[in-house]
Parts: sequence; C-alpha cells; structure tokens
Amino acid sequence: MSVQFKILIGILFTVATIVALVIYGINEDNRMKAYQTNFAGRSIQAGAEYYESYCATCHGEKGEGIVGKGPPLNRKDLLDLKATPHLKAINWNGTAADFIRNTIAAGRPQFSKYYADENYPQHMPTWSQDYGGPLRPDQVEALVSYILNWAPGEFEPLVAIVTPTPGPAPTPIPPEEILKAVPFPVPPSDAILAEGKTVYTKNCLACHGANRDGNGPGAVGSVKPPRNFTDCTVMQGIDLIRHHDSVVNGIPANGMPAWGKKLSNEEVWKVIMYEREPCKLFTP
Ligand code: HEC
Ligand code: HEC
Repeated sequence: MSVQFKILIGILFTVATIVALVIYGINEDNRMKAYQTNFAGRSIQAGAEYYESYCATCHGEKGEGIVGKGPPLNRKDLLDLKATPHLKAINWNGTAADFIRNTIAAGRPQFSKYYADENYPQHMPTWSQDYGGPLRPDQVEALVSYILNWAPGEFEPLVAIVTPTPGPAPTPIPPEEILKAVPFPVPPSDAILAEGKTVYTKNCLACHGANRDGNGPGAVGSVKPPRNFTDCTVMQGIDLIRHHDSVVNGIPANGMPAWGKKLSNEEVWKVIMYEREPCKLFTP
C-alpha cells in the first residue's frame, strides 16, 4: 500500500465518522436524549463486561492477545496516547480513542497489512449498529473507555464511572387498588363461588383435583405437581396478584396452561376465589 493510499483511507475513515455523527445529530432529540441518559449510565465497568462477553475470546482476558485469533490490544505502541507509534506507523492522524472507536465500530472487513503475517482465520467483526453490527453506540463507547483504561497514567475516562444507584423500591399496590380490579364484592357471595366452581370443574379439576388438593388425574406425569389449594401455608405465599398472573399467563414450563385467552376476566376472578376458598384468602 502506498503512503498516499493509506492517507486516503485515513481521510475516508474520518469523513465516514463525521457523516455518521452528522446523521446521528440530525436525528437528534429523543434519540439523543435516550442516548445521553444511556451514555451517562455507562461506565468502564460496563465496558469490562462487554469486553468479557464479546472480545476476550479473540483478544484475551486482559487484552494480551490470543495467537491465531486476535492481536494484543493492551500494548504500549497502541496505548501510548502521546506518541501513538502504532498510529503514526499507519498514518492515522486522529487520536487513539478515535482509532479504537472506529476499529470497534466498523470492524476490519479487510485484514490490515501490518497483521498480514498473522494469518488470522477470522476478521475483526463489525460491532456498531451504525455499521450493521450488534452493539449500540454507547456500548462501543464503554468499550473504548475500557481499553483506554489500560493506558498507563494517560487515561481520561470518556464515560464517567457511575456506580449504579438502586432505583426506588417498587411501591406496593395498596389492597384497595387490587380489589378494585375484582369485578364483584369481596369476600365473594356463595353464588359467585358456585360459578367459580363451574369454571374450575370444567377447566382446572383435571389437574388440580376434585378436592382442590392438586391430585387430579392430569397431575400424573406433570413436571411439577399442580398447586394444592388446601395447603394454606403455601397459599399464604400466593397473593391475589400472583394468583391472577399465574392463571392468566400460566406457567407453561411447569405444565400449568395459560387461561387468559380462554376465560373471560369475570371467569378468571371467580375461579380464583373458588381456589382461595379452602384457606379463606379472599382479601389481598
Ligand atoms: C473473531 C475474533 C475477534 C473478536 C471477537 C474481536 N476481535 Fe478485535 N481484532 C481481531 C483481529 C483478527 C484483528 C486484527 C485485524 C487486522 O487488522 O487485520 C482485530 C483488531 C482489533 C483492534 C485493532 C488493533 C490494532 O492493532 O490495529 C481493536 C482495537 C480491536 N480488535 C478491538 C476489539 C474489541 C473491542 C472487540 C470486542 C467488541 C473485538 N476486537 C472482538 C479479531 C477479533
Ligand atoms: C394440565 C394441568 C393443569 C391444568 C388443566 C390447570 N393447572 Fe394450574 N397448575 C398446574 C401445575 C403443574 C402447576 C404448578 C406449576 C408450578 O409449580 O410452577 C399449577 C399451578 C397453578 C397455580 C399456582 C401458581 C403459582 O403462582 O404458584 C394456580 C393459581 C393455578 N395452577 C390455577 C389454575 C386454574 C385457575 C386452572 C383452570 C382454569 C388451572 N390451574 C388448570 C397444572 C394445571
């Protein structure tokens, strides 16, 4: 490759980056806001995690490189941010951060001449969504920060290190709100319980049993035993919300079907009350 050609490639890279940034900028507002929120929350730790997941297989756990897979990244000629001998050698005029960012984002669809002797069987993949890869720009940025973080004494984090603060604990839904969802007065009347029994007999008895104790004929061979609604210790741990959720969505992996599409909202709540009758757990 001639020097001019290399310079041309360098310029093209830079132009491509600028174009990408401009396009990104035009599309701003919401996207930018979301991006910045994301961006602020990212950290070198996040970069370390992505590195472990996506890069260590070829570049080694600590960036030491793996023979036959990928070159070392934790090397002085790449990370000496003042002298950047590697970048000078390839006529890269931007910063080391730009170089690393571009490489990660676009990948290396062509092997570099300076790695020609290595015979890497696989190319450096394209990572950024901007180039059709799998990672968001903020994830690429976190990776850049993480790699630069190896540079001795020179490091300026591109992304502030943010210790994730746990969000506020979810506010428990007050019982009266839950009861508002029930389409009849609670505790239920005998008439409602009788209707619940009808729904149960038709749909649930086969597995949960005539006595509501989980011993129906359908229980045989089930991955998990169907719930025994007469076991009040267990039932106390199943509040109205969970009960409703389990009936509507089922627990398919364990053999409990989903009923949300087969039963009406009224039928669901009636059968729930019938199942809660043995332990009288009608209120939330
Ligand atoms: C399938 C193996 C493979 C994976 C996975 C991989 N790389 Fe690479 N990477 C390579 C190869 C091979 C090269 C050298 C390509 C070339 O220039 O010929 C390279 C080059 C690079 C370079 C430029 C090094 C230099 O000296 O020019 C950087 C930076 C880099 N990879 C970062 C990453 C990051 C960050 C990840 C994870 C998101 C990653 N790589 C994942 C194989 C891989
Ligand atoms: C094909 C058998 C089968 C049928 C029919 C069936 N269930 Fe179940 N059900 C199960 C199994 C198995 C479990 C246990 C799942 C587990 O432990 O993860 C279960 C568990 C449950 C639970 C407890 C969920 C929890 O969060 O612990 C509820 C409530 C329930 N079923 C309600 C119903 C209702 C209401 C019907 C009828 C509309 C019904 N089931 C019909 C097999 C069945």
